[in-house]
Amino acid sequence: MYAAFRSVGAYVPERILTNEALEKMVDTSDEWITKRTGIKERHIAAEDEFTSDMGSKAAAQAIERSGISKDEIDLVICATISPDYFNMPSTATIISSKLGLPNVMAFDISAACTGFVYVVSIAKAFIESGMKKNVLVIGAEKLSAITDYTDRATCILFGDGAGAAVISATENREEAIIDVHTGADGTYADLLMTPNGGTGSAHDALDAEAKSSCFMQMKGNETFKVAVRTLTNDVKAILDENNMTSDDIKHFVPHQANYRIIKAVGDALKLKEEQIVLTVHKYGNTSGSSIPIAINDLYESGKLHQGDMMLLDAFGGGLTWGSALIPFAGPKA
Ligand code: UT7
Repeated sequence: MYAAFRSVGAYVPERILTNEALEKMVDTSDEWITKRTGIKERHIAAEDEFTSDMGSKAAAQAIERSGISKDEIDLVICATISPDYFNMPSTATIISSKLGLPNVMAFDISAACTGFVYVVSIAKAFIESGMKKNVLVIGAEKLSAITDYTDRATCILFGDGAGAAVISATENREEAIIDVHTGADGTYADLLMTPNGGTGSAHDALDAEAKSSCFMQMKGNETFKVAVRTLTNDVKAILDENNMTSDDIKHFVPHQANYRIIKAVGDALKLKEEQIVLTVHKYGNTSGSSIPIAINDLYESGKLHQGDMMLLDAFGGGLTWGSALIPFAGPKA
């Protein structure tokens, strides 16, 4: 049995936070943000709009496009670092109930910006082992809830949104996800972290110093260097191991953290501009959601066709990283 990537869906909240609006909040400029990151705007969830709300909308769309009925879904996995509740219940269980899914196994995973590649890897393993048949995978983030809007080093980067996909069992090898690479190295834990707290109201009671440790903190420049090196090496490895070259890739879908990182990896792999999927200017860095949101943009622009080979590539807090070679299978006939 193989695992086929059948469909994609996404949702971003209505409110847009522009670089110009950020200029009024912190000491920054549209010019600096554009030049250093490629980001022009990001979407921000309403106060009463939760990670599970965004995840449910993305997931409903993915199910609708999959050719699989929601009653057939037998596993739900959500990648998030900004869950509705930090300990329990998991965001995946809330999404399941919001969608009216059957009583199936549901859980969250925490792998930061690599989250979506990790959930694809888990879905693939469950399907290939025969344990599950139709897996709903989601990346959903309300990063605005863990962003310090007085810290110009981070607040210009992040946005909210969700993406989802349905991965299902197939006997057709042509449709199969070819390979997924995943890795992690906790010795770099301090490069990107939220030292304390969660996205809920718990930290409202903390004093200012304790409260600031509930927000994301990043050693941006060091992270940048490790990101370029790790992403490039990982993509080279997955291509080599599968006897493929960058010419075999129709769409390179990298995690959308920074245009300069994407460009550096694209150049190292000699990818052509038309192979690289770019959404960072519109949504900023949405962590675990960024790859499925980018795939969804590709799909909705009419550029993703059945059989197109996608190469996913992600890097994030942990540190974690991963890549995947995935032909777009399209809906189940
Ligand atoms: O998604 C998970 C993984 N995350 C990443 O991969 C992100 C990796 N890092 C990055 O994308 C980049 O490092 C940043 C965009 C975060 C920063 O860009 P940079 O080119 O590495 O800048 P820097 O941190 O080296 O800072 C350069 C200068 C500093 O000023 P001085 O010390 O040279 O006077 C910063 O204080 O830019 C200053 N700076 C800013 N200036 C205006 C930092 N943030 C801002 C800002 N506006 N928002």
